[in-house]
Amino acid sequence: MTDDFVFVAKVGSIPEGRGATFAVGNRLVAVFNVGGTYQAIDDLCPHMGASLGAGELVSGVVTCPWHAWRFSVSDGCWRDNPRLSVDSFEVRVVGDDIQVRSLPRPKQKAGHDR
Ligand code: FES
Repeated sequence: MTDDFVFVAKVGSIPEGRGATFAVGNRLVAVFNVGGTYQAIDDLCPHMGASLGAGELVSGVVTCPWHAWRFSVSDGCWRDNPRLSVDSFEVRVVGDDIQVRSLPRPKQKAGHDR
């Protein structure tokens, strides 16, 4: 594949409101089904390394299963301190395939409106 997107799963294999973890290149990426659209962030919680793909997803925010740090799955922003974030990844659906871009999105600079 020449455009950096990697197949991770078939449409329908990640239930709505849930996440799952996949290897993308040399990283683990958590992919979430948010109301029928897919969003992806780094799977590794920056606190102590829990799998964010196993966390509870509510209104586009995943809660780490170990100590309840919360991250927006759209951009990886840590909800309790928006100046910090985990990487987020572009997701696309091609036919029945969910694909994740292996390169993370460029980090946004934290602003006063976030
Ligand atoms: S490992 Fe995620 S909050 Fe502690």
